[in-house]
Amino acid sequence: MKKKVSVLDMKKMKQEGKKFTMVTAYDYTSASIVDSSTAELILVGDSLGMVMLGYDSTTGVTMEEMIHHIRPVVKGAPNTFIVGDMPFGSYNVSVEEAIKNSNRIMKEAGCDCIKLEGGVEFADTIEAIVKAGIPVMAHLGLTPQTTAQLGGFKVQGKDLKTAQKLIKDIKAVAKAGAFAAVVECVPSKVAKLMSESVDIPIIGIGAGPDVDAQVLVTQDMMGMYDKFTPKFVKKYSNIRDIMIKAYDEFNEEVKEGSFPSPEYSFNINVEGIE
Ligand code: KIV
Repeated sequence: MKKKVSVLDMKKMKQEGKKFTMVTAYDYTSASIVDSSTAELILVGDSLGMVMLGYDSTTGVTMEEMIHHIRPVVKGAPNTFIVGDMPFGSYNVSVEEAIKNSNRIMKEAGCDCIKLEGGVEFADTIEAIVKAGIPVMAHLGLTPQTTAQLGGFKVQGKDLKTAQKLIKDIKAVAKAGAFAAVVECVPSKVAKLMSESVDIPIIGIGAGPDVDAQVLVTQDMMGMYDKFTPKFVKKYSNIRDIMIKAYDEFNEEVKEGSFPSPEYSFNINVEGIE
């Protein structure tokens, strides 16, 4: 059985050049499957809004929805480090509100840390949450909660000015005490520089190979979500087709009468009933 990694283990893995992975899960069964794998971290991301709840974006996800989904993941994966995402609106009103909502996610859901989107502008908030005793994972680059401001789901840091801002962002969140950062949709060379600028692990998604860890959304990598597949997603399976085939087979067998066969029935003689 694998041993749950700690924040210190992740820092050590970066120092030793050992890569690790994070995948998403939003329910007990999926979490227990990840727990049986070698993946070190689970992210209960607000991507659940899109892949589990059918929303068009992540901005509508609420604190209650996050807590509702993080709780069963914590139960299902006792040997995996669990990251709980802070939904949009839960940390951008005031530092006090951010600490209050981080406390809620940690206490009511029981995860190991919180994740929030933002760089320099959120350094004070990160510092305050860390001072309150809560480990923080930052999220930079393409920040899905603010795609309206970014002009859509676009690669970030494509010119010198925005690339330099990303370097400032990663340094600011590391200085503020974030123990790791997700870096999404950034040119590989910029992501490499970001990783080299700090001693905290960078967990890339669409950020190339020269970072310290990688994260993918389960529904994307398993070929379950069919609305949109970003360029950076490798499909490691095609669960959607496998499930459709199984549902079709079940339906066909029921219609033709071959299921349930005696093997799947309770063939007990009940006295008085022929
Ligand atoms: O919510 C999420 O799943 C994420 C990943 C895209 C990193 O933030």
